[in-house]
Amino acid sequence: MTKIFSLDGKVALMTGASRGLGRAMALALAAAGAHVVVNGRNEAGIEKTKQAIIAAGGKATATAFDTTDIVKADAAIDRIEKELGHLDILVNNAGYGNAKTATEATNAEWNEIIEVDLNACFRLAKRASVGMIRRGWGRIINISSINAHIAREANANYCAAKAGLEGLTRALAVEWGAKGVTVNAIAPGYMMTPDNMDTPLRADLEKREWFAQRTALKRWGQADELDGAVVYLASNASAYCTGTVLIVDGGMSVKI
Ligand SMILES: NC(=O)c1ccc[n+]([C@@H]2O[C@H](COP(=O)([O-])OP(=O)(O)OC[C@H]3O[C@@H](n4cnc5c(N)ncnc54)[C@H](OP(=O)(O)O)[C@@H]3O)[C@@H](O)[C@H]2O)c1
Repeated sequence: MTKIFSLDGKVALMTGASRGLGRAMALALAAAGAHVVVNGRNEAGIEKTKQAIIAAGGKATATAFDTTDIVKADAAIDRIEKELGHLDILVNNAGYGNAKTATEATNAEWNEIIEVDLNACFRLAKRASVGMIRRGWGRIINISSINAHIAREANANYCAAKAGLEGLTRALAVEWGAKGVTVNAIAPGYMMTPDNMDTPLRADLEKREWFAQRTALKRWGQADELDGAVVYLASNASAYCTGTVLIVDGGMSVKI
């Protein structure tokens, strides 16, 4: 049974893997057997994730680039294909919100979020798909958010970008399915990552508890609670699953 979850021989690129959910998912893919290429903008951060994977007995390489930098992102994918022979799994995880209300956000602040959470994911998927389609096997996993489904105040750009990312997931699934490439998304709820866009929210204990009570499980998610979802979608266990959004939110979106 565990064989269908094996990623032995596969190469995965995890964007935004220096900390938080990306780091946890990178470790999980490596534990399942993949060689994980760890990305982020900050060299020191991705080096730590790479070393953690190696210390756990896994295989990893680090490559620093900003996912919104078209030239560097394309070059990184080409380098992986050349140096490691193939890129089989892309996890579009790098992303964030800037907590601006629609009223106060400038065009630049709107565009920044659309660029990192949607446009960059499209370009990486497009570039990575070339080799995947040629080989007839690929997995693209887009990290969306529960905010694609239910909105929070001061988050219009983020909600729009993540909803767009889920639409893109369906469109690419339809376009590339017959070519052996599946495209799915994971929509996490509120997760306890150490230092991210929700740090100020979690610092307010009343709000923190309010978000916990909004879920069916009455708690925030832990950073490693996407591990099962990402290994499933990256492996042959999900062979007949494409264009779907796996919601991992402790039941927040099904609760009144
Ligand atoms: N945590 C949650 O509760 C939650 C809930 C729903 C969805 N999500 C989504 O899950 C993903 C990860 O969230 P997280 O909470 O783990 O975030 P995080 O802790 O802030 O980590 C974000 C990671 O992305 C990297 N990054 C940011 N912008 C980048 C860029 N332009 N190019 C390359 N790397 C970049 C950061 O590293 P550098 O700073 O070194 O670049 C870091 O490794 C995001 O897409 C987020 O929207 C998170």
